[in-house]
Amino acid sequence: MKKIILTSAFIVFTIALSGLSHAKVTGVCYNCHTMHNSQGGAAMAYQLKATLDGFEADQTPNPCLLTYDCIGCHFSSTANTIVSNTPIVLNSTAPASPLAGGNFYWSLSDNKKGHNVYGITAQEGSPMDAPPGFKASASLPSSYGTGPASWATQLNCAGVYGCHGDRTQGATAATVVEAMRGSHHTDDSAIDGTSTGKSYRFLRGVNGVELNAAGYKWEQTANSTNHNGYKGGATPGTTTDSISYLCGSCHGNFHGHGNLGGSSEVGSSSPWFRHPSDLAFSGVGGGYGGSEYAAYTSYSTTAPVALSTPSTSTSTVDSGSMVICLSCHRAHGSPYYKMLRWDYKSATLSTALSGCNVCHTSKN
Ligand code: HEC
Ligand code: HEC
Ligand code: HEC
Ligand code: HEC
Ligand code: HEC
Repeated sequence: MKKIILTSAFIVFTIALSGLSHAKVTGVCYNCHTMHNSQGGAAMAYQLKATLDGFEADQTPNPCLLTYDCIGCHFSSTANTIVSNTPIVLNSTAPASPLAGGNFYWSLSDNKKGHNVYGITAQEGSPMDAPPGFKASASLPSSYGTGPASWATQLNCAGVYGCHGDRTQGATAATVVEAMRGSHHTDDSAIDGTSTGKSYRFLRGVNGVELNAAGYKWEQTANSTNHNGYKGGATPGTTTDSISYLCGSCHGNFHGHGNLGGSSEVGSSSPWFRHPSDLAFSGVGGGYGGSEYAAYTSYSTTAPVALSTPSTSTSTVDSGSMVICLSCHRAHGSPYYKMLRWDYKSATLSTALSGCNVCHTSKN
């Protein structure tokens, strides 16, 4: 039978009717589901070709009767990062306005610039086939179970070996949808971490405030008064529902919470062993007043900070503002080494320091 080859224009066409009500999919069911994966005897499910230049028919039906897998819907061959109200995290051409998590585009050419997720790039060789700083059986955000006892599989979007969804379900790429079940149809206008759908960006157990303002959604653009509201902890041991605790649930040794690396790996005050995350400026050595951190006063999208009660519009940075993993990193990928938010390896000193200097205002 003739192979059906489609481009991402098909997605634009098929889910163009998706409504714009925030964070809950709308539109006709057949935009996203196929009842039998068969019409006129031909498959109705499609998968992204390995060459990223279009889709091909997928004879194997997908869980939840879906027409695409995660990457299939969250991909575009254009430079656009929101297509039919779908947040795009993998573009096959340089994204024009990457979303808050960055983009997996850069990991295609250099695996050190992004997480290497199944279906996008190959798994890295040892020791990078596992999360650096891995902590076995770590307690997951908001105590939603424990992580894997050992790291066997390539990183997935969701599930046991992934970041999104219920991380006690969906251990293989074929079953990750289990971990997400119900989330896309949840009204998550209020995030409280009580379910996957009502967690920050479907990161189960993580709190925060999602930026939904028109023109700024998913931080397609962001500034000091329109940005995601990250949840942080005042000291590393304070909270398990922060975005940094999520990162630490795999990269355990890099987070100072007692469930994770703790004070022996990270420290609990200056002098630190590893760079702190989930630490408020109020806790810096010598006190906040007069410290170099007191000169960071207006929220910077280069080196953002978190709050214990986050908001999307707080522009004031003060003693309650917290350094987090995302002060320095993007979650998916960035144009820079180690998914950093700026070019820390630049030969131009001012560029290399540009992010560090947002907080360390007296260091050059
Ligand atoms: C059939 C298409 C489709 C599939 C398959 C799909 N998504 Fe989505 N996804 C969407 C759309 C559309 C939205 C935007 C919903 C909204 O906020 O309006 C979305 C939103 C999201 C968000 C952002 C939620 C937020 O709070 O803003 C995440 C995270 C996500 N999807 C992850 C996944 C993962 C992981 C998978 C695979 C298990 C997946 N998606 C599969 C269409 C899809
Ligand atoms: C824009 C894409 C999109 C549209 C339109 C859509 N769905 Fe879904 N649906 C999804 C995704 C993605 C999943 C799997 C992941 C999840 O549950 O979050 C899903 C899961 C489901 C599930 C299983 C999980 C649950 O929530 O119970 C049911 C049932 C379902 N959809 C029914 C429907 C029906 C009925 C319609 C039409 C009224 C519809 N969907 C329209 C994307 C869509
Ligand atoms: C579900 C487990 C998991 C979570 C959660 C997780 N990571 Fe990772 N991370 C990995 C794995 C596996 C690798 C090694 C392979 C790779 O690069 O994907 C990795 C690698 C990295 C790298 C090095 C990339 C490279 O290839 O050199 C950085 C930086 C990183 N992670 C940062 C983060 C940040 C920041 C967060 C939170 C937003 C986070 N990780 C959350 C599993 C995870
Ligand atoms: C969002 C703010 C922020 C950013 C960005 C940031 N830091 Fe820090 N850094 C801190 C805070 C807060 C501390 C804790 C200081 C203390 O406890 O006295 C710290 C501690 C440190 C320490 C240990 C100091 C000690 O007393 O043990 C070093 C070294 C350091 N940072 C280097 C860097 C470098 C290099 C960069 C850029 C790659 C960077 N920081 C980016 C906020 C930041
Ligand atoms: C102050 C900035 C900063 C913060 C905060 C930060 N990182 Fe990093 N991270 C870096 C830099 C810079 C590198 C590059 C390697 C180095 O300098 O140690 C890096 C490298 C990494 C790597 C790759 C390690 C490897 O072996 O290749 C991982 C994984 C990682 N960070 C995860 C995290 C996690 C998880 C958090 C939060 C708990 C975090 N980072 C917080 C700046 C930061």
